[in-house]
Amino acid sequence: NSNANATVFQRKTGIILALDVTDEASALEITSEVSGLIDAVKIGYPLVLGTGLQIASKLSKYAPVIADFKVADIPNTDRLICEHVFKAGCAAIIVQGFTGPDSLTECVKTADEFGGKVFVVSEMSHPGGDHFFTDDVSKEIAALAKKSDAFGIVAPATRPERVKELRAVIGGDLKIISPGVGAQGGSAADTIKAGADWVIVGRSIYNAENPRDEAMKVKVEIEKLI
Ligand code: C5P
Repeated sequence: NSNANATVFQRKTGIILALDVTDEASALEITSEVSGLIDAVKIGYPLVLGTGLQIASKLSKYAPVIADFKVADIPNTDRLICEHVFKAGCAAIIVQGFTGPDSLTECVKTADEFGGKVFVVSEMSHPGGDHFFTDDVSKEIAALAKKSDAFGIVAPATRPERVKELRAVIGGDLKIISPGVGAQGGSAADTIKAGADWVIVGRSIYNAENPRDEAMKVKVEIEKLI
């Protein structure tokens, strides 16, 4: 097992960088620029298909890595995917919850074997995200995440009222990470106020002329709340 898996998520700035660039040089450059200002870096298909999964161990030198593969399969396939992700040095994985309790339990069990964490998507953050993930469905998924001993859920910063409702469902034990701040219009302060532990920020940081300045702005916005 990689040592990176032992990393415990600690909230310092409240920011997770969504690193959806597609080449290794930019990925490493941007992450090193903002290191210290982010608590974790989230990678997904764009970067991993562009560079390979070995990017995870390179990035984990700067911050714990969350693999956003929105895993959604039968338990056996889920386990095989999770094993690759944690062996590669990721500290957490994002999975779908609509696949049901057995799939979710298998992901959590596999993550535990590696000292890793599971975040469950309760609702997507884009405009169409609440088409199928209606209020009730999102809440049911959040409740299932809690029952399955997931580490946290993913809830939309574009709908802070939903973050608040989902926080009420899961109580204080699970973490909430919220994408949709910046490029998709969500506000970091409103999202944290609604009950999120971390905001996930992608384009508005990695496309900025100065990513470090941009990350600093978000950090200050969150700090003002305390
Ligand atoms: O660039 P932007 O800040 O909009 O990035 C948001 C990130 O969060 C993207 O990586 C997107 O895939 C991801 N995400 C999301 N909504 C979810 C889950 C993940 O926007 N529910």
